Amino acid sequence: MLFKKNQLTPEQQLQKAVPLPTGAVDKRFSALFSQVGQPGKPTKEMLSFGLSCASDAISIDLSAVSSRIKAGENYIDIYPGEHYKLLAAIIKKRAPMVVVELGTHLGYSALCMKPFMPPGGHIHTFDIIAWNQFADTILKPEDFNEGLTQHTDDLTKWEDVQQHRALLESADIIFLDALKDGKQEYNFLENFAKLNFKPACLFIFDDIRLWNMIALWYNIDKPKLDMTSFGHWSGTGLVWWT
Ligand SMILES: C[S@@+](CC[C@H](N)C(=O)[O-])C[C@H]1O[C@@H](n2cnc3c(N)ncnc32)[C@H](O)[C@@H]1O
Repeated sequence: MLFKKNQLTPEQQLQKAVPLPTGAVDKRFSALFSQVGQPGKPTKEMLSFGLSCASDAISIDLSAVSSRIKAGENYIDIYPGEHYKLLAAIIKKRAPMVVVELGTHLGYSALCMKPFMPPGGHIHTFDIIAWNQFADTILKPEDFNEGLTQHTDDLTKWEDVQQHRALLESADIIFLDALKDGKQEYNFLENFAKLNFKPACLFIFDDIRLWNMIALWYNIDKPKLDMTSFGHWSGTGLVWWT
């Protein structure tokens, strides 16, 4: 064979070349950059909102959800470092009637938000894989009886976005927690740029400190706040979609 294809991802190749100097279970390359020069910055209102949610998150109890975990680490009760208590606190404070989540996976985030929704509120969670296809899902059929719906449409596709246009435009919170492959989030945002979201709809971006997400986060030119120290270790960002 003339050449052997490198099976490692760019991140894995980097980690091999420059081993990261910690023994953390999961460690990634990221970057530092100043606020000066960055498009979009926090408003005073955002800062107060974020700090107040971070403070409330300390006393949020998610043990009823974490007790459902079937396998692996209990990420749900880790705070800060994981985002579940912060998500719950945001829902409690903002009392959204409509939440759209991109990325259901095992149902952790949907179930952590659900108990804190106001009466009549509804979470619409999207995934291209149906929840019951994951062996370790903590979702149960009865979770969908009230206040929670899963859609398996793909909002990177404009025709699927059009189908859910009214729902998206009625959302109070959009939580983006899908692939983070450096391409998909751009597809979501390109589609969303054509919609008329409610004034100050709150977008929550997961993993904003990951290499694939840095440029996307940095370039968002809207009121925004990096909540990473009070959310997910890999990055949590809030954006008012004005
Ligand atoms: C990081 S997981 C979500 C984790 C979940 N929000 C939580 O905190 O428990 C990412 C999920 O995004 C899903 N996904 C991939 N492409 C998607 C798309 N186009 N729309 C919605 N979800 C997608 C994957 O199938 C996977 O289940």
